[in-house]
Amino acid sequence: MNYFPLTTNTLSNEDKKLAIDVIKSGNITRGNYNKLVEQYFTKKFKRYALLVNSGSSANLLAFSLLVNKKRKYNLKKDDEIIIPALCWSTSLFPIIQMGLKPVFVDVDIKTLNIDLKELEKKITKKTKAVMLVHALANCTDISLLKKILKRYKLILIEDACEALGSKYKNNYLGTHGALASFSFYFSHHITSGEGGLILCKSYQDYKILLSLRAHGWSREIDNLKRKKSKRFNKLFNFINLGYNLRLTDIQAALLLNQVKKIDKFKVNRLYNYNLICKIFKKDKFLENHLIFIASQKNAEVSWFNFPIILKKFKNRKRDIVCEKLNELGVETRPIISGDFSKQKVIQDDFMDLSKLRFSNATKINNSGFMLGISSNKLEKKIVIRLANDIKKVINAVK
Ligand SMILES: Cc1ncc(COP(=O)(O)O)c(C=O)c1O
Repeated sequence: MNYFPLTTNTLSNEDKKLAIDVIKSGNITRGNYNKLVEQYFTKKFKRYALLVNSGSSANLLAFSLLVNKKRKYNLKKDDEIIIPALCWSTSLFPIIQMGLKPVFVDVDIKTLNIDLKELEKKITKKTKAVMLVHALANCTDISLLKKILKRYKLILIEDACEALGSKYKNNYLGTHGALASFSFYFSHHITSGEGGLILCKSYQDYKILLSLRAHGWSREIDNLKRKKSKRFNKLFNFINLGYNLRLTDIQAALLLNQVKKIDKFKVNRLYNYNLICKIFKKDKFLENHLIFIASQKNAEVSWFNFPIILKKFKNRKRDIVCEKLNELGVETRPIISGDFSKQKVIQDDFMDLSKLRFSNATKINNSGFMLGISSNKLEKKIVIRLANDIKKVINAVK
């Protein structure tokens, strides 16, 4: 049994009961629970909110929207989109799938988030947008980023899949740009098994997203109108090249009460993060062997996981540390998916992206790993046991 797992279950008996009630009712596809959860998010984030079946789907919708012919200002083939090299696969893939050109930028080793000096160096005449990935719920200096965006007239998309509840200067991550994505996959802050959310600022974008999310039909846009059409085929009117990315009401019912705990979970996750840091930093040996990650100034971070970078070990030795920790009941995994430019799909199929070097992303890739961080407050004695196990393992590998 793992005493320090990567993920803890946030589903209460009440959440499960609501989902079972939906199954019993027979109305299991998108329905009232979806609408209630969307209303909650709209109020919380002051943005249009659409539930979808994953964070990846939210990113796919974001880039489908940005290139969509129905959008007043749409991106064109080979327009460049800046993205940190430390990202998730489906933060990146929709950019390529939509015919746009991703441009990787290194991250700041202190925060794991995009390095703004490096970002500015990569801006060209073809740069049209920045896809931020709020790594582990931390963020970059968003005030400085906004100045850069304004200077070069760039669109901001926020992949906030790991960042539900975090804030920068008292505004939630996901509300700083034109579009944002969140994930409700099992290992995230709240969960519906699979699930996601896309936020947008503009009503025009909202209407296009409604259609793209469901088959490309006009049904949900028509529902917004006060005067309803009487045409026989009004429900089967297709206006855009859409997908079907809707969430079931079984899943939305699981979210209904969890959404009210987002801020409480943030307090607990921050408490856990600080507790781990305090106990680890008190120990000279651990201080000498580990690099700790700092919260961005002015940010309130609802930490997604606890990242560790080993000062003295890399590659195989890092792997052995993780294997030994796993044997002791401490689950570990890579930091997001490491330096994405090193992934096989990029090395095999995207030559120009594969040749670049990102020293910080490489270090994170080769010497980093993550531990879980629970949504419930951790006991001090568990963290002391964790610190002792990490010491034991590092000593055994040295
Ligand atoms: C940064 C980031 N973006 C996107 C995703 C994709 O979310 P999902 O698993 O809900 O598709 C993840 C998933 O973990 C993620 O970490």
